[in-house]
Amino acid sequence: MNLLITGGAGYVGSHCTKRAVAAGHKCVVFDNLKSGHKEFVRWGPLIHADIRDTSAIRRALSEYNIDAVMHFAALAYVGESVDQPASYYDVNVNGTRVLLDAMVATNVKQLVFSSSCAIYGQPEIIPISEESTPLPINPYGFTKFACERMISDYSLAYGLHSVCLRYFNAAGADPDCEIGEDHDPETHLIPLVLDTALRRRNSVAVFGDDYATADGTAVRDYVHVADLADAHTAALSYLENGGDSVVMNLGTGCGISVNELILKSQNITGRAIHSVRSPRRTGDPAELIAKPGLAKDLIGWEPRRSNLEVMLADAWAWHIKRFA
Ligand SMILES: NC(=O)c1ccc[n+]([C@@H]2O[C@H](COP(=O)([O-])OP(=O)(O)OC[C@H]3O[C@@H](n4cnc5c(N)ncnc54)[C@H](O)[C@@H]3O)[C@@H](O)[C@H]2O)c1
Repeated sequence: MNLLITGGAGYVGSHCTKRAVAAGHKCVVFDNLKSGHKEFVRWGPLIHADIRDTSAIRRALSEYNIDAVMHFAALAYVGESVDQPASYYDVNVNGTRVLLDAMVATNVKQLVFSSSCAIYGQPEIIPISEESTPLPINPYGFTKFACERMISDYSLAYGLHSVCLRYFNAAGADPDCEIGEDHDPETHLIPLVLDTALRRRNSVAVFGDDYATADGTAVRDYVHVADLADAHTAALSYLENGGDSVVMNLGTGCGISVNELILKSQNITGRAIHSVRSPRRTGDPAELIAKPGLAKDLIGWEPRRSNLEVMLADAWAWHIKRFA
C-alpha cells in the first residue's frame, strides 16, 4: 500500500515507517519537524508541512495515491498541555479533523491512529481493559479521546475504517540503532535515566516513593517501540482484510517500577545513576498497566522485545551513539 505517515519524523512514527517499508509498503512522511528530526526520515520522501494545512494534506494524499494513513503527528507533553491547551486542541484535535476531512475528500478510507493510555486518566481497575471508561485528567488525554470520538463518528458517517492504538509507555530504540528517542525537552523516564548515566544531567527525579506499590514508586507498562511498529503493520493488514473499526491497547500487561528501572539501568550501563526523591506529581496514578489481550486476538500482536533488559539495552546503544 501507499502510506502517508503524519509525524513520521518523530520517535514512534519513524520506527513505524521503517517497519512498514520492510513489510513492503511505500511510505511518504508528512511532518512539520516541530519535534521530529529530518535525519529520521530515511525510508521515503518527506513533505515538510503542517497537518492543519488543508491543501498540503489533500495534495499529499492525491499526488502519492495514498491508500492508508498512519497518524502520529501531535503535541504530546502532558505538562505543556495543561499550560497551553489551545495549542493542543488546535494541533491534535483540529489537525486530526483537517486530516480526516482531506481523507474523506480524496476517498482514502483506512487510518491507524496513535492514541494513548492517557485517555484512561486514573482508572480504579488494573489491568486496564479497553472497556474501562475513558476519563482523561489533562488536556493531552482529552485531545486524544476527542480524536478517537471524531474518528469513530467519521467511520460511521463516511465509511472510514480505523484502528486506534492506545499505547502505554513507548520505550527502547531501533534494534539496528539507526533511529531512537530524542525529545527536547525530554520528559520520558528511560532517556532521562540514560542521560544521567551519561552525565548529561546530574540526577533523575523519582516522583513519589510512598505509593501502594511493591517498592513505593510508580509502576508503568513499557512497550518496545519496535513492538509498537509491528502492531501498526499488523493493524494495517487487519484493515486491508476488511476488519471493523476498533480501539485497542498496546501494552504488555506487566508493570515496571521507577526504582526497578533505575536499578536495571545501572546494570545495563555499568554506571551509577543518581536519583533524587521528589514529591508526587499531581495526577500521576500509582499504576498504569494494560490488559493486552484484544490486540493479540484481533491483529495477532504479541510483544517480542518488550522486556526491560532488551528495551534498556536498545535505548542505551542508541543513546550512546546519539549523545555521547
Ligand atoms: N511516546 C509515547 O510514549 C507515546 C505514548 C502514547 C501515545 N503517543 C502518541 O504517539 C504519537 C507519536 O509520539 P512520539 O513520542 O513519537 O512524539 P514525537 O514528538 O517524537 O513525534 C510527533 C511528530 O509529529 C510532528 N508534528 C507535531 N505537530 C505537527 C503538525 N502540526 N503537523 C505536522 N507534524 C507535526 C513532530 O514534528 C514529530 O515528528 C503522538 O501522537 C503521541 O501522542 C506516544
